[in-house]
Amino acid sequence: MLIRKAVMSDTESIYKLISEYAKEGKLLARTYSSIYENLQSFLVAVLNNEVVGITSLTILDQNLAEVRSLAVSPAYVGKGIGKALVLQIIKETENLEITKLISLTYQIEFFSKIGFNRVDKNELPQKMWKDCINCPKLHSCDETAMLLNVLP
Ligand SMILES: CC(C)(COP(=O)(O)OP(=O)(O)OC[C@H]1O[C@@H](n2cnc3c(N)ncnc32)[C@H](O)[C@@H]1OP(=O)(O)O)[C@@H](O)C(=O)NCCC(=O)NCCS
Repeated sequence: MLIRKAVMSDTESIYKLISEYAKEGKLLARTYSSIYENLQSFLVAVLNNEVVGITSLTILDQNLAEVRSLAVSPAYVGKGIGKALVLQIIKETENLEITKLISLTYQIEFFSKIGFNRVDKNELPQKMWKDCINCPKLHSCDETAMLLNVLP
């Protein structure tokens, strides 16, 4: 399996994977336009020329970045692809000299195993909520905020 930066020809796979999980309420939906605008922030996991996993890294402020749109194709879950994607996002965060990485998630155990710890959502910066305006759960967000200290 190869993890690499996304390119334009990956956008359809990215869109489909996000949409599939968005229908189940597991991910926030993204439009093609949002994927194009943020393409440089996406990583894809590729196996046999097929995109089997995706994620993106959003910089929120000087000290904080967020893992977004993490998804592994249903046929490939439980094979270490999700973890490999997050480990690569952690490396990128470190390379950018950003000290903390956050995730808003239902996958508490998955992120705990990688070293993230629960934090109070109310302590997160306003900027964190800029995409929430598009979320159907805006006023009843039941996701858990999990934080990893990437750099001391
Ligand atoms: C969550 C998701 C990305 C995990 O990816 P994955 O490739 O299946 O996970 P991995 O195989 O890398 O798992 C890494 C570890 O986490 C554990 N884990 C993964 N999903 C888990 C879950 N739902 N509950 C408990 N543990 C889980 C694995 O058992 C594994 O543990 P190990 O290191 O002790 O063997 C994937 O299931 C997915 O795409 N889910 C739907 C979309 C979603 O919920 N995205 C997260 C949004 S923040």
